[in-house]
This record gives sequence, C-alpha cells and structure tokens, in this order.
Amino acid sequence: MKGSGSAGKRHRVVYLDNAATSFPKPDRVWDAVLEYARDIGANPGRSGHRLAVEAARIVFGCRNLLSRLLGVGDPERVIFTKNATEAMNVLVFSLLRNSYGKNVVTTSLEHNAVSRPLRYWCRHFKIELRVIPCGKDALVNPKDVCEAVDSDTCAVFVNHASNVFGTVTPFEEIARCAARFGIPVVLDTTQTLGTYPVSFSDFDNVIPVFTGHKGLLGPQGTGGFYLPEGVDLEPFIMGGTGSNSESDEQPSFLPDKFESGTLNVHGIAGLSAGVSWVLEKGVEGLRKHEMDLFLHLWEGLKGVKGVVLYGCELWERRVPVLSFNIEGMDPAQVAFSLDRDFGICCRPGLHCAPWAHKAVGTYPEGTVRFSLGAFNTYEDVEVAVDAVKRIAEGM
Ligand SMILES: Cc1ncc(COP(=O)(O)O)c(C=O)c1O
Repeated sequence: MKGSGSAGKRHRVVYLDNAATSFPKPDRVWDAVLEYARDIGANPGRSGHRLAVEAARIVFGCRNLLSRLLGVGDPERVIFTKNATEAMNVLVFSLLRNSYGKNVVTTSLEHNAVSRPLRYWCRHFKIELRVIPCGKDALVNPKDVCEAVDSDTCAVFVNHASNVFGTVTPFEEIARCAARFGIPVVLDTTQTLGTYPVSFSDFDNVIPVFTGHKGLLGPQGTGGFYLPEGVDLEPFIMGGTGSNSESDEQPSFLPDKFESGTLNVHGIAGLSAGVSWVLEKGVEGLRKHEMDLFLHLWEGLKGVKGVVLYGCELWERRVPVLSFNIEGMDPAQVAFSLDRDFGICCRPGLHCAPWAHKAVGTYPEGTVRFSLGAFNTYEDVEVAVDAVKRIAEGM
C-alpha cells in the first residue's frame, strides 16, 4: 500500500516486524498526536473549559471509530487501557475473582499477556485451567474448545490469530457454545483487528481485546476492550474518573467504571487517526494487500533449500505472520544476519508464546518471524526471500 505513511528517514530498512508493532504509521497519526499536544493538551472529563471539552471530543471520536470497526452499537462500552496486556489483566482478574473451584478454558496459542495472568490467578483461586492444544499445523479446532466448556466454566480465553504462526481460530462457534452456558469469551484480537474482517454485533458474550499499535496503526501505549451488554464485571483498577467525585464508590457506568486516572490522550488522538485510515482503506482491501504479499513470501521461502515453514496452508485461516527456520541454524543467528547484512528487521525466538512452540515442536529455540503490514511492498518480500536464500546457502 503506497503513500500516506513515511518511514526510513533515519535508517533504510525492510521492516518485517509488524506483529510486534506496526511501522511506519500513516502520517496523519503523527499529525493528530502533535495537534493534540501542541494545540489542545487538556485533560478530558476533568474540567469544563473549552480545551477539556475538545480533548473529550477526541476521546469520544476514537470510541466511535472503534465501535464502527468492531461492528458494535455503543461507543461508551469501548474501554481504553494502556495496551492489550493491561486489558487482559483487568479481564482475567475480574472474571476469575469469584470463581473459586470452577474452570477456565483456553488454548496453547495464547500470548504471555493472557497465559501468565491466567496461570497466576487460576493457582490463586484454585481454578482448573483447561488448555486446548493446537495441532502441529498450529490450528485450534473450535470443537475441542467447545467440548471443554461446561456449566462450571467461568470464562473462555481464545486467541483470534496466533502472533507466532499467524493461524486464525474462528471464534464464532466457540462464542455460540459458551453462550449456551452464559459464559463470556475473551477474544485476543491483537493480531487481527484492522487487518482481518470481523463483526461482534451478533455476540453479546464476546469481549474483544485490542491493542492500538499493531493493525490499528496507532501509537504504542494504546489498547483496550469492548464490554458487551451481556457481560457485567467488577473493575480491577479504581480511582479518579472526573465523575461522581462526591462518592467513595467507583462509578457504575461505562466507560468510567473501567477508566480511572488520566487517559493517554496523545495516544488516543493518534489511534483515532490510525483507525480512520483503516476504515477509509477498508479492512478487506488491507487484508488482500497483505495476504497477496504473504503468499508471495510463502511461495518464495518454500522454494529455498533448508527452510522449514510453519503453520497451515488454509489461507482463509491465516494472517500475514510467517514463522520459519533454516535447518541447522539458530533463529537468533538468522535474524541477526538478516539485520546486519541485509537491513531486514524481524523477530526471532519464542515471541512471548512458549506454549505455542511446545505444541508445534519449535521449543525452546523458537522461530524467525516475518510479519507484514499495510506499507510493505513486493520489493520488500523479494529482498527478504533473497536474503534468506543467501543465508541458507552460507552466503
Ligand atoms: C497475540 C498477542 N496478544 C497480546 C499482545 C500484547 O499486546 P500489547 O503490546 O498491546 O500489550 C500481543 C503483542 O505482542 C500479541 O501479539
């Protein structure tokens, strides 16, 4: 996707690390951050003056755009946190705290942002953790998740797409079977929202968790979740909200119930611009662009002797995240050479998801991960394939 995003003024690189954070961002993102910081700067919801009202307008505008992207009705149910990890911690604690002796269902594809708080609080509250393994192709069968859910399940935590292998878990079937027991499903959409078409309008038990700095093209330090009407939760973080200040109790209305303390309005201003860019381009169009490049990359690497590619070849169940190894080489060594010798930025190792590697058989060394984004080009892919070929051949 050409235009409206500029990068590489300082370093000329091929950036293939969009699953860690997207780069570059559309120029309008930085324009929006600067405009808020330079011309507005006030604290939304804290004072009634014109600048505070303007700041509140920016925050509400972002909730509005996000609710459009999520396909949901009520922008006030979009809650901001500082990243997806914080949102997950809030949700894990809130959903588990009154569930002593019950069970939680999750999968082996989860990021540590999910699996660490889950393991900790399950131990603490004596909750059984049911981990559904993915296959060697890194696919989770939704039926296996459904079979593990019963009337003693307090919540399901599923990854929409693996940040290691790029495999998608269709959440709809899981949401429907959990709904039969009135159970909420927390869906980690950090690798899908903005780049994979999705709508939550039909699911009042699904809580999508998002990050702002990947497919939504916003600044780092942004993220959150959407709380559907069918789910009622106690807050984990409490404090000043600028509302009901006379009361010792946390407000019970949204979003204030879950948004204590000053928001990252700089980040939210940028996130709003990122989401508006995504909505203008269209998620389908972005997906097509990224998957065309992904297929070109997959085919190119497949032909390189000694390269092992991971994950399935069902393209509708993939996002453009590609894990591979070169036989006989440590992934860290490969990534180091890609950076030093070819100017290619990517990520080696376990990618904060050790259980995914254990299930697929790439633990403990992990994999080299190329992850594509909106601003990558065919040329980037060709440079990457050529570089991997030269490394595999001993250069
Ligand atoms: C699948 C997945 N979940 C959660 C996270 C955590 O996101 P954040 O950086 O916004 O906390 C990431 C980020 O790498 C991720 O890839």
